[in-house]
Amino acid sequence: MEIDINSEWRELENWITMIEDKDMMVELSIYMGRNKESFISAPGSIAHHHAYEGGLLRHTNEVVRIAWEIAKTLFQEFNVLDDYIDFRNKVIIACVLHDVGKIQKYYRNYPSRAWVYCVNPHEHAQWVIDNWKMNQKLELDPDVIEAILTHHGGWSKTGVEMKKLLSAVVHSADLISSRFEEL
Ligand SMILES: [Fe+2]
Repeated sequence: MEIDINSEWRELENWITMIEDKDMMVELSIYMGRNKESFISAPGSIAHHHAYEGGLLRHTNEVVRIAWEIAKTLFQEFNVLDDYIDFRNKVIIACVLHDVGKIQKYYRNYPSRAWVYCVNPHEHAQWVIDNWKMNQKLELDPDVIEAILTHHGGWSKTGVEMKKLLSAVVHSADLISSRFEEL
């Protein structure tokens, strides 16, 4: 499948600019820029969803879009968010980062060009937390860390329990994107 990587990347950058905590917006922008090359070429998975070059980028944009809409519904119809702006900021950060660890998870086997695993699939959520900590000045919010570590729901094997609403939103958006991929 061919996708327009430049336009998908612009969409991702656009989401990041919508973070109203400007220091975090700059940090996330720097972080994604540093990982851009691997991120835009990786698939979303090997065989399950978005299994093509650029699939990870496309899947990430879908997850942000879906989670953004869920957050809007929670705010406007269910009235369960104390601080909508703060919640939206965390939604963008958690969704953008949730699968970045997959850049460590796949590589392309030549000459067959088949995607193959290079690390345990459950390790990629922890990898992005550790990698962020090693390279960035600002710390990730604990809610964002929980959401990244639990984004696979019951399938997550990171030893972290899903307690926060943010985690449920990110997990739901991830599930919808991976089950009902835009084709
Ligand atoms: Fe995902």
